[in-house]
Amino acid sequence: MIRSRYHSEINFMLNSSVLSFSKSRLAVVGCLSAAIVSGSALAQTCEPSERDNVPSQRYVINSDGTVTDRVTALIWQRCAVGQTWTGSSCDEDRKQQVRSWFSWKDANREAERLHDTNRFKDWRLPTAQELRTLVSNKCTDPSINTEMFPGAPSWFFSTISQYSVNDQYAWRVDFKKGVTESHLKSGTSYHIRLVKGDVLATARKRNSTKSATDEELAQWDDGIHDINNPDLLLLQKPKEVTRDLPKDSRGEVDWAAALLTGAIQPRAIREGGADMVVWDQDIIFTETATMPHVRFPHKLHSMWLACENCHDEFFGTSKGQADISMESIYQGRHCGACHGRVAFSPNSCERCHSVLHEGAPTKWW
Ligand code: HEC
Ligand code: HEC
Ligand code: HEC
Repeated sequence: MIRSRYHSEINFMLNSSVLSFSKSRLAVVGCLSAAIVSGSALAQTCEPSERDNVPSQRYVINSDGTVTDRVTALIWQRCAVGQTWTGSSCDEDRKQQVRSWFSWKDANREAERLHDTNRFKDWRLPTAQELRTLVSNKCTDPSINTEMFPGAPSWFFSTISQYSVNDQYAWRVDFKKGVTESHLKSGTSYHIRLVKGDVLATARKRNSTKSATDEELAQWDDGIHDINNPDLLLLQKPKEVTRDLPKDSRGEVDWAAALLTGAIQPRAIREGGADMVVWDQDIIFTETATMPHVRFPHKLHSMWLACENCHDEFFGTSKGQADISMESIYQGRHCGACHGRVAFSPNSCERCHSVLHEGAPTKWW
């Protein structure tokens, strides 16, 4: 349904824009409209060998139908004006006959009108430079990340930027082909997408990371992050990312629980679409003196660690081969290759020593 509506709109716009173009242009436009009618308009084409400059990880999905671009720090409406955010995608509200494309003048007027409403306070039309940051190098028709901007019209979008040489012209971004070009302001109608925030503020921040305050950098100086990387301050703070994840008794993230509850879903390979080989066998270590015995759960480890992480560098493949002790763990060998570095600390005794036996203390921690 939506598809056919787009087609008729596009044709309508083509026809109206034809009025302001020369004859030679008319021929080109004619082909374009034929191609659109044949149904190719909503089938995105991607060049597999091209690097994706707008991967989904680049955006933080906010709960209100907007996304924050981690690179520019700009906040974008996921829907074009005239589309309605349904909670998971963008629908055009056909009943209300909402307008979804505007002449340059009307686009500015509409943005101002929306800016004065509560819902779109602080939202505005993007500049050409800002809008261009959404263009995909990899995909066309539409040339945008369609996961972040579902139902994005594969068509021209207006910007607030005027052509400096001749203000009869303004800049538009063609999200079908992914190009930015100037156009005569009068006589053409395009979509608009609202933006919020200030790209310069981040750019300034980016360039001055080296002189960021010691306090700011101290939050990142954890032996894992590179405090000399100028992009560091663009990352979400670890505390923010892990805020809602389950925690253990020491207040550290319980990654095992996070994994089992589905709060995190690591990929087996970077590209996704592969499964881990899961080995479901608990190994119980009993030489623990008066401490509860140690349960090593293969299943939980192999849900996200390939066998080669442990076999045969840290452990042989028959039980009892490795001479594990607390000393070796604190030295960073055996379990200590990870625990105390990338997994919970050896001081969380109860998480490993979890199998009670006669004479074992039940609790002192
Ligand atoms: C996080 C580390 C880790 C990972 C990952 C891991 N293992 Fe192990 N594995 C161990 C430890 C520890 C032992 C016990 C070694 C010992 O007692 O000396 C062990 C022992 C074994 C044993 C011997 C069991 C027995 O009863 O004698 C087999 C078989 C085995 N692992 C298979 C696998 C396979 C298959 C995978 C991958 C799917 C895998 N492991 C992944 C740590 C790991
Ligand atoms: C990452 C898992 C892990 C954590 C955390 C851990 N242990 Fe152990 N512990 C082991 C393993 C494995 C052994 C060796 C058992 C074996 O060889 O049968 C062990 C052995 C021991 C032993 C036997 C003597 C020795 O040194 O080997 C004691 C006592 C002990 N742990 C106490 C503790 C205490 C106290 C804590 C908390 C401060 C703790 N453990 C935390 C895994 C852990
Ligand atoms: C190759 C890295 C690696 C090694 C080696 C390793 N672990 Fe782990 N282990 C992890 C990771 C990662 C987690 C999940 C992260 C977390 O919870 O901090 C984990 C989680 C666990 C858990 C929590 C399970 C749960 O259900 O809460 C236990 C228990 C555990 N490890 C015991 C051991 C013991 C005992 C050894 C040594 C015999 C060992 N691990 C060796 C990486 C490792």
